[in-house]
Amino acid sequence: MSRLQIAPSVLAADFAALGEAVRQAEEAGADLIHVDVMDGRFVPNITIGIPVVAALRRVTTLPLDVHLMIVEPERYLDAFVEAGASILTVHPEATIHLHRTLDRIRALGAKAGVALDPSTSEESLRYVLALTDLVLVMSVNPGFGGQRFIPAVLPKITRVRAMLDEAGREAAWLAVDGGITAETAPAVVRAGADVLVAGSAIFRAPEGVRAAIRRLRGAVG
Ligand code: DX5
Ligand code: ZN
Repeated sequence: MSRLQIAPSVLAADFAALGEAVRQAEEAGADLIHVDVMDGRFVPNITIGIPVVAALRRVTTLPLDVHLMIVEPERYLDAFVEAGASILTVHPEATIHLHRTLDRIRALGAKAGVALDPSTSEESLRYVLALTDLVLVMSVNPGFGGQRFIPAVLPKITRVRAMLDEAGREAAWLAVDGGITAETAPAVVRAGADVLVAGSAIFRAPEGVRAAIRRLRGAVG
């Protein structure tokens, strides 16, 4: 397995000082910047979109890992890639032709991700594994930061890892998103994750971003 990647989710950062938050995360050794896009339809919350991705692209050289919690994400793929997204992750329930959507993301030169809700089976991946660069296992129901980790997803992480390996996609990333803290991360990594997405545990940590990232890495040895 490659080195563990830490992907701070800017959803938990101060939106009035987003550039500064991202710069801090980069200096503190973050590997990716996770950007949660919500449309008020696929999920009950509304957050940020294309102009914010473009603005973040100007303040960091880290890959922008854009998590699209929107219906019909296929309508916006070109715009997000043009704005600077490096990874575009979609939910299978939100896009009718998942295969075509992933194909299009890759044709645009970005990495293609598939997000699995806590109730979504890993079987959704079966016929798109060859097009999947990242699987995002959701360990909370998408829509909000600061929720509690759902341990029932742990066996799914292990099964997704096995599916990727069996399909010859060992290089694909397996990310876990939601309720990740120094307490929940060890089991997630033992189950086979190699990317940890964390919002509150990084940007709301009283000890600061640098110490929080160090604590996460330390927790998983
Ligand atoms: C939830 C988002 C997450 C969120 C995680 O819908 O996909 O990326 O920011 O936040 P924490 O780490 O606070 O659970
Ligand atoms: Zn997310």
